[in-house]
Amino acid sequence: MKSRTLKNPEDLTEAGAARKPAGFRLADWSWSWSPRSEREAGDAVVTNFLLHWFPNKISLASLSVKYSFWLGTITAFLFFYLVFTGVILMFHYIPSVERAYASIKDIEFAISYGAFLRASHRIAAHMMVAMVFLHMVRVFLTGSYRNGGLARQFRPLNWWIGLVLLVLTLFLSFTGYLLPWDQLAYWAITVGTNIAQAVPGYGDEIRFFLLGGNEINQNTLIRFYVLHCMFLPLIVTGLFLWHMWRIRKDGMACDDRLALEERAQESRPTPSKTYSLLGVTAGRTATVEASLVDEDKHKVRAVPAVVRRITIVCLLTFALTSALAVWLGSPLEEAANPMVTPNPAKAPWYFLWLQELVAITTIRLGGFTINGGFLGGVLIPSAMLLWGFLTPFIDKSSRSAVGVWFSRERRLQNTIFIIVCLAVIALTYLGTYMRGPYWTVIWPWQAWPEFPPQL
Ligand code: HEM
Repeated sequence: MKSRTLKNPEDLTEAGAARKPAGFRLADWSWSWSPRSEREAGDAVVTNFLLHWFPNKISLASLSVKYSFWLGTITAFLFFYLVFTGVILMFHYIPSVERAYASIKDIEFAISYGAFLRASHRIAAHMMVAMVFLHMVRVFLTGSYRNGGLARQFRPLNWWIGLVLLVLTLFLSFTGYLLPWDQLAYWAITVGTNIAQAVPGYGDEIRFFLLGGNEINQNTLIRFYVLHCMFLPLIVTGLFLWHMWRIRKDGMACDDRLALEERAQESRPTPSKTYSLLGVTAGRTATVEASLVDEDKHKVRAVPAVVRRITIVCLLTFALTSALAVWLGSPLEEAANPMVTPNPAKAPWYFLWLQELVAITTIRLGGFTINGGFLGGVLIPSAMLLWGFLTPFIDKSSRSAVGVWFSRERRLQNTIFIIVCLAVIALTYLGTYMRGPYWTVIWPWQAWPEFPPQL
């Protein structure tokens, strides 16, 4: 028999053996946990489908909890956990006005682990709204929507994708709110869609489009069901993948400074590799620049460093979600009844700041009334959204402020942003805990008055 000559002595190692094409191998999925050599760690990123989107090495700065608090990763985990629990719920839920409430009751009281599943889905949805908001706050306060001076970066795009993801997350949650078809669901959607009605000229059309008619009925339920279970999750998945790809292209904002600092004290020969046609390029890309950073000092291998951290973050999020699901459960009121209006009727909590704005800006001066529905429900939130989209252009701070928490240079921007965020949080708190019947303010030291529901 002819003996095999080994061109590469490394082929004798287990890493070499693992590199041979052998169809599906469990090892290809599991070895990434504890690679036995540098080579194996590098191979893991290339050969493992799930790890493919990581660079081979990642800076310690971008992995630091103090920088990102892993809020984006937590949001991503919650989204995929929602898809997982949601698909199981779909096996039991019936999107029909006559049967939806009964099917939720079955999930809650008859199906094994149904109550836990439903509560997990609901808690994860609330948490995702909160986490995506906090993630945006951290991105803003670190100025991570700006380019750091490396070639072919366009961070504003990822900021805009993020803003769309934020709005879609709110709509994902909003469309799910109606599905239990109980009083809470019915009236929250009534209030929510009434706010949309305040758009001048087209308000009625928008409400009609949202509800599939003039009132909440079977059309609305099936519309919200399809949006919630298919349409919005698919768009969010697509945008999420785009978001991640942009991060790979632009690099994490905190790494720009490191790359620029290294460039400043560079004593090495300039690399010629530019990844561009004929080497013609405006500068070095984030990937090339990052590869120049002193690896030993500032970087670790993505495998296992990132894999382990992501696993820990996901497990902790899962544990917290499960604990809250067991502790809080999920509410289920009486079946939806259009004839019985709860007092007060409240929008879902993340739209309560809008409901508050509508209430506060509705001012009557003699015979003259300022339309709060338009001012608070449409004009102010639209202006905020526009400000969000224009932010990367409005911010003229220098590149050294990119990826830095509370940079002195961005004091004004950060102060305005924090004030706006605190106002939104305060209004949400006011609407959630301090608004009683007829939308009167009930202070913590006052007793909560009992009013019969309005018939
Ligand atoms: C479904 C919603 C979202 C998901 C799943 C998501 C996920 C992520 C992840 C995993 C990262 C990596 C860093 C980290 O963990 O913080 C990241 C970074 C980033 N996200 Fe998001 N994100 C979402 C929404 C948003 C929103 C609402 C914004 C802003 C309006 C935003 C803007 C950014 C930017 C600019 C970066 C790069 C940050 C840097 O370079 O330091 N994202 N996102």
